[in-house]
Amino acid sequence: MGEEMQINNQDLLNWVNEIAALTKPTNIHWCDGSEEENQKLIDMMIASGTLKKLNETLRPNSYLALSNPADVARVEDRTFICSEKQEDAGPTNNWMAPAQMQETLGKLFDGCMQGRTMYVIPFCMGPLGSPISKIGFEITDSPYVVINMKIMTRMGAKVMALVNENTEYVKCVHSVGMPLAAGQKDVTWPCNADTKYIVHYPEQKSIWSFGSGYGGNALLGKKCFALRIASTLGREEGWLAEHMLILGVQNPQGEKKYVTAAFPSACGKTNFAMLIPPKEMQDWKITTVGDDIAWIKPDLNGQLRAINPEAGFFGVAPGTSFKTNPNAMLTIAKNTIFTNVALTPEGDVWWEGMTDTPPAKLTDWQGNEWTPGCGRNAAHPNARFTVAASQCPSADENMENPAGVPVDAFIFGGRRADTIPLVSQAKDWNTGVYFASTVGSETTAAATGAVGVVRRDPMAMLPFCGYNVGDYFKHWLKMPNRVAKTPEMFIVNWFRKNEQGKFMWPGYGDNMRVLKWMFERIDGKAHAIETELGFAPQYKDIDWSGLDFSNDQFNAAMKIDNEKWQMEFASHKEFFLTLKNSLPTEFINIQETKAMAFRKAGAPASPEATM
Ligand code: OXD
Ligand code: MN
Repeated sequence: MGEEMQINNQDLLNWVNEIAALTKPTNIHWCDGSEEENQKLIDMMIASGTLKKLNETLRPNSYLALSNPADVARVEDRTFICSEKQEDAGPTNNWMAPAQMQETLGKLFDGCMQGRTMYVIPFCMGPLGSPISKIGFEITDSPYVVINMKIMTRMGAKVMALVNENTEYVKCVHSVGMPLAAGQKDVTWPCNADTKYIVHYPEQKSIWSFGSGYGGNALLGKKCFALRIASTLGREEGWLAEHMLILGVQNPQGEKKYVTAAFPSACGKTNFAMLIPPKEMQDWKITTVGDDIAWIKPDLNGQLRAINPEAGFFGVAPGTSFKTNPNAMLTIAKNTIFTNVALTPEGDVWWEGMTDTPPAKLTDWQGNEWTPGCGRNAAHPNARFTVAASQCPSADENMENPAGVPVDAFIFGGRRADTIPLVSQAKDWNTGVYFASTVGSETTAAATGAVGVVRRDPMAMLPFCGYNVGDYFKHWLKMPNRVAKTPEMFIVNWFRKNEQGKFMWPGYGDNMRVLKWMFERIDGKAHAIETELGFAPQYKDIDWSGLDFSNDQFNAAMKIDNEKWQMEFASHKEFFLTLKNSLPTEFINIQETKAMAFRKAGAPASPEATM
């Protein structure tokens, strides 16, 4: 397999040999990305019990993997940015001195692939040949990682063909951290239950991951490369690597715009990226370029253009249904790898929220018998599907365009039960960057033990910014110097609740109504009023066809509560204190001016009040 691939880069050969000498695998396999190779790995994992083939009629060419229960999610507390200076990692990242980390990892990786095959995966983040794309190599001892990387990236011989002696590439080393002694039988999901490290060296542009086989920790092209390392590359080279979906919006006249949107994990990015407009707005069309990550770079004319560096979706399964996201359901109808979902007696998959009534009997994500009402989840809440983006019915015609798509607007959102209105448009770039940097989500008890505390998640990048977050804000503030025209900026909150604790906004397809207003604002056509936060629509400015949503409901969702905003600005100030001297001075000025305006109580209570 793959022996015929030409390797024209001495540095690459040296590095692979060096890692092999350290990790001591039984075999080395260079991945060519062929179908034949993929099938051999799948057959091998079926034989070993790592994968189960699903019913070929119900879910063609699809497989289920069940992980070790100690290996089900990203491990933020085990994730490190090892820059030479601690201040370059900033206050939001775990840091260790590179030499010290190398010593720790050197011991862990010594012999860690014994009894296993070491796979070398050539991969490209972004369309082949795009000026925005970047090449990486992942060395891994996990065949599960290889078959997922084949879906999530452009991978194999076609990437190797682009590599020559001068090619720059990101070095990614991954091990499940479970060597096998001679004759030792493997487990179905090897990992290291005690020790996990997800380590980034931003100066060396390299990644080392130990102990986990789970997607975000092990598919190193995704969060580790495409966000943490790429954000440092973007800073050095004048572009942006962002935790953003990319979608196309086309109006009934056939005019099209592209917007990117940042939301924290588990806030419905995949749903928004594949939105289907309400019946009454079917003459509007949404197309999908990406659901998680955007690389955004000015072209030679100063136009910001975005690519999706990934080739697949690694989406959260629970909650996905024909009601919430029909396009996702159609995307995963075949050729999909499922991880930690439940299995039906017919050999298909199920998860919470897929259907209103659960099947009478299932095998749950831990392989145990499950019946409704047994008190356990059938699927793990972070269960995933891995599927090629090209299978998405709403795939945009420019998904593979090496030039990327022009960016007309940035949308930022968090998950807030109060304070933040449904939508507002920033008046200028700096204020937009300020609001994007202060978006947040209320914590849940599972994450922190405290409920309802706002965790600031700047641009949804808190776990993903590979350098000092204060410098990241400064990088964003400098963007106007690099582009001919800055995109419009919008802040949204789909998650505001009323006094009964119910969501005020229907969300999902109805987000099209907000998107339509934004589309027309970009052209300067839609009406807006000025508020303390920027511009906002009034009831009459939104298309309500087919939705029973009253003026009062709208005003409640849009309300700018003076007292709450005073508290909000005080909380921004607290967050800024943690950034110390890396905080941009522009932010201090905006914070003080806005807080003052609210203190004077001159702020409108709601858009209605200024009518
Ligand atoms: C993801 C995440 O998996 O943001 O996309 O955690
Ligand atoms: Mn994400």
